[in-house]
Amino acid sequence: MLHYKELGLVNSRELFKKAVKGGYAIPAFNFNNLEQLQAIIAACVETKSPVILQVSKGARKYANQTLLQYLAKGAVEYAKELGYAIPIVLHLDHGDSFETCKACIETGFSSVMIDGSHLPYDENIKVTKQVVEFAHQYDVTVEGELGVLAGIEDEVSSEHSSYTRPEEVEDFVKRTGVDSLAISIGTSHGAYKFKVKSGELPPPLRFDILEEVERRIPGFPIVLHGASSVPQDIVEEINRYGGKLENTAGVSEEQLRRAAKSAVCKINIDSDGRLAVTAAVRKVLFEKPGEFDPRNYLGPARDKLKELYKHKIINVLGSADKA
Ligand code: G3H
Ligand code: 13P
Ligand code: ZN
Repeated sequence: MLHYKELGLVNSRELFKKAVKGGYAIPAFNFNNLEQLQAIIAACVETKSPVILQVSKGARKYANQTLLQYLAKGAVEYAKELGYAIPIVLHLDHGDSFETCKACIETGFSSVMIDGSHLPYDENIKVTKQVVEFAHQYDVTVEGELGVLAGIEDEVSSEHSSYTRPEEVEDFVKRTGVDSLAISIGTSHGAYKFKVKSGELPPPLRFDILEEVERRIPGFPIVLHGASSVPQDIVEEINRYGGKLENTAGVSEEQLRRAAKSAVCKINIDSDGRLAVTAAVRKVLFEKPGEFDPRNYLGPARDKLKELYKHKIINVLGSADKA
């Protein structure tokens, strides 16, 4: 058993308490490799923001479990070296079973999500409670989910979304003991969130559902998945340099800013980072076809990522200077 405190990490409990009170959200950025991690830490140190380093099941497989522990420990030390020891959470994104959550808790994760949202309600409660009981023995925090987002949820594709039913949240939170709850109010995973014709705005988020959830569980930490905005300038850059992404659409940053001021205290962003990396790599390889040193295209990708994350922290989540 490697406890997360040995790596210098923290769980999300205190961070969420402060975020709900302060009207901002903690960034939950996914990473799979060194450059993404460097960009996240540098952006958060420069803006003095707490951060949730988020690892999906697929990312865990990609990056290797043992390396992940050292990367997380390295991230803590790297932040100090950059001049500011921000609080860092290592979180399992979309945990698919008790076994996956347990394996992560035993190898240094300080927070896990158990995603039983696709299960019948009682089965969701059962597996979530099982994870909570195990996690809390080690002071690891747990995120559950009610309601299904459209798009791809870590190898599970949901053709149809279903909004969270506010009448279920109180019972779910009480019976499972979860520390935070992901809800479905119209966000979705990936870079193709909404089918909108050019010039049209994506549909607004269902703030009425969010408000009803808040009324039923006041002050309880709420999480938004699928919160990439799919910046059109980045998509255009990808296409200018040989890419072919069509009909992409994301959640407007104004809507996310509004959500962050409520009990939403964790906002998940992955796709926007993927787009930024792709745009930067494509640009270098298009302009310099003779380039073959990965540092010369992954370096610019890392710079672009860092700028994107700083923008999110300062202008969307409001978590700057909260570390
Ligand atoms: O919600 C899913 C995240 O964007 C992770 O995606 O399973 O492809 O790593 P992934
Ligand atoms: P995006 O695909 O909108 O970035 O969502 C990421 C996410 O929810 C990770 O869990
Ligand atoms: Zn998600």
